[in-house]
Amino acid sequence: MVDDPTDDDFELLASIETELVREFLPGEPAMPGSEMAAMVRSAPANAPLAVVRAGVDGAALVELATRETNQHVAWAWTLGVRPSARRRGIGTALHEAVRDLAARDGRTTLIAITTEGDDGAASFCVRAGGRPDLVEHLNRCVVAELDRAMLQDWIDLAPQAAAGYSLVSFDGPVPDDLLSDIAGVAKAMDDAPKPEVMDDWDHTPATERAEQDAWLAQGYDIWTVAARHDATGELAGYSQLLLNGHRRWLAEQQNTGVLARHRGKRIGQWLKAVNALRLLDERPEITTIETGNAASNAPMLRINHQMGFRLAVAHRAWAFDV
Ligand SMILES: CC(C)(COP(=O)(O)OP(=O)(O)OC[C@H]1O[C@@H](n2cnc3c(N)ncnc32)[C@H](O)[C@@H]1OP(=O)(O)O)[C@@H](O)C(=O)NCCC(=O)NCCS
Repeated sequence: MVDDPTDDDFELLASIETELVREFLPGEPAMPGSEMAAMVRSAPANAPLAVVRAGVDGAALVELATRETNQHVAWAWTLGVRPSARRRGIGTALHEAVRDLAARDGRTTLIAITTEGDDGAASFCVRAGGRPDLVEHLNRCVVAELDRAMLQDWIDLAPQAAAGYSLVSFDGPVPDDLLSDIAGVAKAMDDAPKPEVMDDWDHTPATERAEQDAWLAQGYDIWTVAARHDATGELAGYSQLLLNGHRRWLAEQQNTGVLARHRGKRIGQWLKAVNALRLLDERPEITTIETGNAASNAPMLRINHQMGFRLAVAHRAWAFDV
């Protein structure tokens, strides 16, 4: 483990990450070291990221969240070896180091991720005792191909389809007076499929504050659009678009969720349309929106496919006993 990673460590990590991504997305622009540094240095205090390095050819980023739930899990968001350095035992050494780190931290389960169709990585995981778990799709949409008229129709439909709901939107940090509402509506995200080895997350004002403020510190602009149920005052759904300050061509769709009792009123597509139209009008430099959706998440995928999101790559989570 690298205790106090330097800018050089982050440059190296970003260069490994770029090589790994280019295996399935050829021509992908490089991830700058500054983004890797910001991701780690400004990670939420309750979800710190540890850096593990194997020389100059292998690296892992491991999240050891200290939230109330899922303390049994360590996530290796990245665990990879440069293609030119494979089959020399570096991956095994890295995996063992990450498992040791997880064990020392009292974790019982490690989750790591492979690309679907990468049979070598799957063999590696099977050999290391991994069990295949959730498949998640990284979907991307070309902003220039967004259908402005369709998005406007989705917004125009809201007064009938979602009568009795009003829009609430803000940029940047969650205002204090909305924080507990956001923590309430964030529970909708627990209905999205997740790996079998994971429990629901705890969503409190403190966890939401930590996550949202970390995103800002990491260099994202955040656009949040929510729908309030007028009769009860409850936030029924929300959607957040994060504009990447390091790769300025990229927007990341996070957290689109509608609480179960408010579903079926086209609120999800309304909220996404508001942010997408705004992106078209205000941020011409952004060419791509990306989002991660479980392959089994039919309601979210239906909206995303209609908007023009297409599968860029499928990932599989693997669970390892620590
Ligand atoms: C998976 C990965 C980390 C393996 O790294 P590596 O340094 O090549 O792995 P090792 O040399 O330690 O391989 C250990 C064993 O895993 C299996 N294995 C690894 N790569 C394999 C391949 N391409 N085909 C078949 N088996 C493979 C073999 O049994 C191998 O032992 P052997 O070489 O004596 O036959 C690397 O391929 C990688 O970075 N892939 C992309 C990222 C990824 O999928 N990470 C997985 C996270 S768990």
